[in-house]
Amino acid sequence: MLNIHKDYSLLGHNTFGIDARTAAFVEYSSEAELLEAARMLREGALPSPWLHIGGGSNLLLTSDWPGTVLHSRITGCETVSENEDAVEVRVGSGVVWDDFVEMCVERGWYGAENLSAIPGETGAAAVQNIGAYGVEVKDLILEVETLDMASGQKKVFPAADCGYGYRRSNFKQQGNKRFVVLSVLFRLGLRPQLNLGYKALSEALSGRDNITLRDVRETVRSVRSSKLPDPSETGSAGSFFTNPVVPRSKFEELQRQWPAIPHYPAPGDCVKLSAGWLIEQCGWKGRSLGRAGVYPKQALVLVNLGGATGSEVEALATAVRDSVRERFGVELRPEVNIL
Ligand code: EPU
Repeated sequence: MLNIHKDYSLLGHNTFGIDARTAAFVEYSSEAELLEAARMLREGALPSPWLHIGGGSNLLLTSDWPGTVLHSRITGCETVSENEDAVEVRVGSGVVWDDFVEMCVERGWYGAENLSAIPGETGAAAVQNIGAYGVEVKDLILEVETLDMASGQKKVFPAADCGYGYRRSNFKQQGNKRFVVLSVLFRLGLRPQLNLGYKALSEALSGRDNITLRDVRETVRSVRSSKLPDPSETGSAGSFFTNPVVPRSKFEELQRQWPAIPHYPAPGDCVKLSAGWLIEQCGWKGRSLGRAGVYPKQALVLVNLGGATGSEVEALATAVRDSVRERFGVELRPEVNIL
């Protein structure tokens, strides 16, 4: 049955810990229930506009939501096929992402371990193309099963048709406004293959032999917890901005002035910069504005110092962006969905 709450606080549904309200909050546990919610929205039995959230770990609420917030409770992981090389598993959009990663590690399935401890749910992981330590979730996705809220039809997108790129997908770009993810089909490897190319990970594991999936998961967890706030203690949404990608000519100009500027290869004749480094150079690391702060261990993370409103966090984000633009001529773009 559809679980409907009227005039509902979203405090427990966003990791920034913002106390914004929604006119209606609806949780569904099946495709049929989501169809029912779509019908009620069309007929005005639920207030519009609608917004779909996952774990609320990439969301900044700057005001109350006047319509309906939808949340999936579609759970379950079903093995669809298996051969000696790989397993294909269909995962419900409401499955907590890290529970799925734990299941993969437990069963000896390779591929998801570098994405350990990322907050949020599986549907949103596919929308956001979450990534960490050299792996992006798109690398594991075969297809995304969705419901088209406009037509009520189911539509399956092969990964190649999802428009995946660094922290982007067609689902994210459409502002989450048409296709709602029902489940995601993943392919995980059964033959040992670890991805230890990322510097922080290889350094933490250096000198270790016979590294297992469990070792990688535990190392990722400890590297993350040394840099990122624990969402159960400090409100944040992880990286607030994406790392900016600039033309090579722009990068060379910056490198002449700041020879130590961290940089990474990017598609095309472009270079990816570290937003955290740019923000730190502007002197923001550990500083605050009102009840919003720049995390002292990772300048790319903005935090709620306690009781902050979404607008206070947004004001800090704007000040940080302005500093980086003035000093480096680089535009930072929020990774977080600001509403
Ligand atoms: N750096 C600084 N100062 C800082 C932070 C970073 O100088 O305060 C520089 C350092 O040179 C460091 C480099 O930036 O070596 C990279 O930092 P880090 O490894 O922490 O990664 P990041 O680029 O800041 C990205 C993702 C994270 C992900 C890590 C690890 C984005 C927007 N963020 O951060 O993802 O965990 O790499 O792969 O791409 C998230 O998306 O919410 C998230 C946490």
